[in-house]
Amino acid sequence: MSQIDPARRVAELRAAIEEANYHYYVLDQPQISDAAYDALMRELQALEAAHPELVTPESLTRRVSGQPASQFAKVRHPQPMLSLGNAMDEAALREWRESRVLKLLGRDTPISYVVEPKIDGLAVALTYRAGLLVQGATRGDGEVGEDVTANLRTVRGIPLRLRSPAGTGLPLATLIEVRGEVYMRRADFEALNARLAASGDKTFANPRNSAAGSLRQKDPALTASRPLRFFAYGVGPFEGVALRSQWQALQYLRALGFPVNADARLFDDFEELIAYCRTWMDHRERLPYEADGLVIKVDSFAQQRELGAVQRDPRWAIAFKFPAREAVTRLVNIVVNVGRTGVITPNAELEPVVIGGVTVRNASLHNADYIAERDIRIGDYVTVQRAGDVIPYVVGPLLELRTGAEQPWVFPERCPACGTPLERQEGEVAWRCPNFGICPAQLVRRVEHFVSRGAMDIVGIGERQAEQFVSMGWLQDVADLYQLTPEHFAGVEGYGPKRVANLLHAIDRSRRRPLERLIVGLGIRYVGSVAAAALASHFGSLDAIMTASEAELQAVEGIGPVVAASVVDFFSREANRRLVEKLRAAGLRLSGAAPRAQAGTGLAGKSFVLTGTLPSLTREQAAELIKAHGGKVSESVSKKTSYVVAGASAGSKLARAGQLGVPVLDEAGLLALIGAAGTASDHPAAAEPRAAPAPTGQLSLDL
Ligand code: IVH
Repeated sequence: MSQIDPARRVAELRAAIEEANYHYYVLDQPQISDAAYDALMRELQALEAAHPELVTPESLTRRVSGQPASQFAKVRHPQPMLSLGNAMDEAALREWRESRVLKLLGRDTPISYVVEPKIDGLAVALTYRAGLLVQGATRGDGEVGEDVTANLRTVRGIPLRLRSPAGTGLPLATLIEVRGEVYMRRADFEALNARLAASGDKTFANPRNSAAGSLRQKDPALTASRPLRFFAYGVGPFEGVALRSQWQALQYLRALGFPVNADARLFDDFEELIAYCRTWMDHRERLPYEADGLVIKVDSFAQQRELGAVQRDPRWAIAFKFPAREAVTRLVNIVVNVGRTGVITPNAELEPVVIGGVTVRNASLHNADYIAERDIRIGDYVTVQRAGDVIPYVVGPLLELRTGAEQPWVFPERCPACGTPLERQEGEVAWRCPNFGICPAQLVRRVEHFVSRGAMDIVGIGERQAEQFVSMGWLQDVADLYQLTPEHFAGVEGYGPKRVANLLHAIDRSRRRPLERLIVGLGIRYVGSVAAAALASHFGSLDAIMTASEAELQAVEGIGPVVAASVVDFFSREANRRLVEKLRAAGLRLSGAAPRAQAGTGLAGKSFVLTGTLPSLTREQAAELIKAHGGKVSESVSKKTSYVVAGASAGSKLARAGQLGVPVLDEAGLLALIGAAGTASDHPAAAEPRAAPAPTGQLSLDL
């Protein structure tokens, strides 16, 4: 990387930040992500700190936010709308309590706290006089916002007339300013973007900008057509009612007819509060809307007044931020990976960066077109995203940070493993190594897949061993695993007698895996655990599946034309039929549906969809358990789905469940349901316990 002149760099960064501010605050069309913006700001701050002579009075690092757009009338807030300081982790949260709250209020004062989700939308203030909405304004810079009353009137959930707060024992306020967040649900945001794209309009970058852009429309009819929602989270000035605490205010707001977040909680005990915050790390993914953290507020208004604020941040509240899903880092190199079916995938090698508590070193670049369209170059600063159950991927380069030293990348013409010229089929984005069955890289991937947990589950063989065994020339196909003997390992470093015995024992034990697992292990395109189970139980043997026609395959419930064609294609290949014969000769079970101990029928008639990583069961184990109790497992969520079982990093299936109102269970919920229906102790997971690393830690790519 060439040496850069700091003055020039500072000027470049300021221009880039200025531009980003304009797009974000004025046009509501952010050009770069928050993480990218933070990266620019951090670099500018660092340069200004190192070169104080470059700091100017109007430097962007000293200004808080951008100016409002001019099309709406300005409204001065009678009480400033404050912002919030951030606590990035538990320690910072404890520190806030110690050094801000307890220090001023005293250790012996009882203090309660309210915890609320921090919804990622747009803050507004709604003024009601005698129960009628008279004004609605955006937060703006906290002092002055914009009058968007006409638009706010169109937002579902914002009452135009307040309900009588009967039951609270409190009168209707003669004046009250209600504060809250206008936001958009994820699914609504996606649908809106699809609609905008279909009509050739500009799409929004995220639900928050979508909410902001939709609210700040000149034409209220347009705002009305946007799926905006509202959560009330606080009060500004009020008259004619005595509200004494945040918790009381929330109950009051609910009684007045406002949507108040059901996940808000009141705590007297700070440790319980922390425990609640912890549960949110997973819970977050299950919400139908984006939340970027939790807001913790001292409950009593009197205590809030006593604590006051430091500039814009109140001492009485803090935002406990969830780990970001996105980060900016440098792309050091691009390497290609050869997949099981020969697909060549480009991967980014990154300067390690922590995203959501996990260190990410590699990220997917999807395919050649993806890199070309985004002009991603080696040496670029790139935004990397990691969310839900997807592999981390490179979103794109930060063009503003280019120095000129970045190198464009050229897709290889030959397979990096076997040198065969790569091919690309008409209409496909992927390049492939056509040397199927011989290319050693493909074989390594097939071995990895064959031994994986959802397939033959051979403990002790992973990526490294697969590579090693193939490079030693021991394996021509996966069936050769069953020919390994202690002699193979004699003198090989790292393989003592005990390890070899364990390994061979694990291989031997896998001979008895049920047919459906073997089908998964074969690696037939589009055939995962659900399709494999359907095939195994319908046909009962591999021979029957091999000779079935497409029509016969499609007659099986859950097997569509694509899977059927893929199965026929797989077994039409000589090499694959030979492989099956070798597996038969090695003594594997090629027939018999999984001997399923019917543990109960308590889940009969119920259908489940699994998503995310469960804390103790693998997805396959959970599926077996459900089936063993008479339930059905399917791949996609529909209105007919009885339950979605969600674990950590669940993604779109969970969002879909929220959309359709399908109940969501976690692993404990599933086990409880089964427990209520029968006994769970006989589940297959219990038969062969194994200590496996949490899959969430495995972020390197294995394709
Ligand atoms: S309270 C002094 N509560 O976060 C307290 N804010 O950085 C200030 N927000 O502009 C606001 N959910 O847009 C509060 N439950 C919640 C919130 C929340 C989201 C946003 C709001 C505000 C920003 C503060």
